[in-house]
Amino acid sequence: MSAQIIDGKKVSKDVREELKAKCEDLKAKGVEPCLAVVLVGDDPGSQVYVRNKERGCAEVGIKSIAYRLDAGITQQTLLELVDKLNRDPAVHGILVQLPLPKHLDEKEVLRLIDPKKDVDGFHVVNAGSLFTGEGGGFVSCTPQGIMRLIASTGVSIEGKNAVVIGRSNIVGKPMAMLLLNANATVTVCHSRTKNLKEIAKGADILVVAIGRPEFVTGDMIKSGAVVIDVGMNRVDGKLKGDVKFDEAKEVAGYVTPVPGGVGPTTITMLLSNTLQAAEAQG
Ligand code: GUN
Repeated sequence: MSAQIIDGKKVSKDVREELKAKCEDLKAKGVEPCLAVVLVGDDPGSQVYVRNKERGCAEVGIKSIAYRLDAGITQQTLLELVDKLNRDPAVHGILVQLPLPKHLDEKEVLRLIDPKKDVDGFHVVNAGSLFTGEGGGFVSCTPQGIMRLIASTGVSIEGKNAVVIGRSNIVGKPMAMLLLNANATVTVCHSRTKNLKEIAKGADILVVAIGRPEFVTGDMIKSGAVVIDVGMNRVDGKLKGDVKFDEAKEVAGYVTPVPGGVGPTTITMLLSNTLQAAEAQG
């Protein structure tokens, strides 16, 4: 059997068309949606991500302002910038690219972002509203995009065994919450999990965000499963996912490629959150 490849670019393109129209509507009402992106230091990966976020904004008509700050800036300077952006009514969304250099306190910075402008969904208020199922807050972009990818397969989530490998605040934990809120039976695995292979093999929906190249092999996948690969690992200059794609596609029912799977939808959800913020703030 050969799996269907989930086309993240196509899913993304369709959503971006809707977002373009929404952005035009807001502009017609006198609101110019605006995202502030803060990048500290010169990590090459983060530079690429930020550039792609700026490009995404331009594509749907969102204004973006990038603040590229020296790696050596103080915590105080960064907090002052976030405070200024919080108070600027022309800025609807604020994104601080992670990771920050080691000497900076990431948690304190994220806590200062106004939850109404927290388009990454990282603030405890937004994470909390996802956790309680209250809704209405911002949801972390990668897991939100993954829900779209799963929806594109037509496979229903309710009652299914979903396994998430990875427990980060950015992907693993919010992913587990979204799947739970959609009535899946959810197991979260991580680097210390025993019998990970057996648990993964029981998954109808398997989301892999562990950051290890080709960690999931074909023998860890249930026949017909939906396999979502969040990995972006550089190996000898080549981009590798967390799933051994060639093996996965022989066993799974659906699988995302790397690149071209999860990546494009992550940025699309950021654009969607920014328009949601602009609409709410008016
Ligand atoms: N670093 C890796 N992923 C992300 C993300 O989704 N948002 C931000 N701000 N930083 C990241």
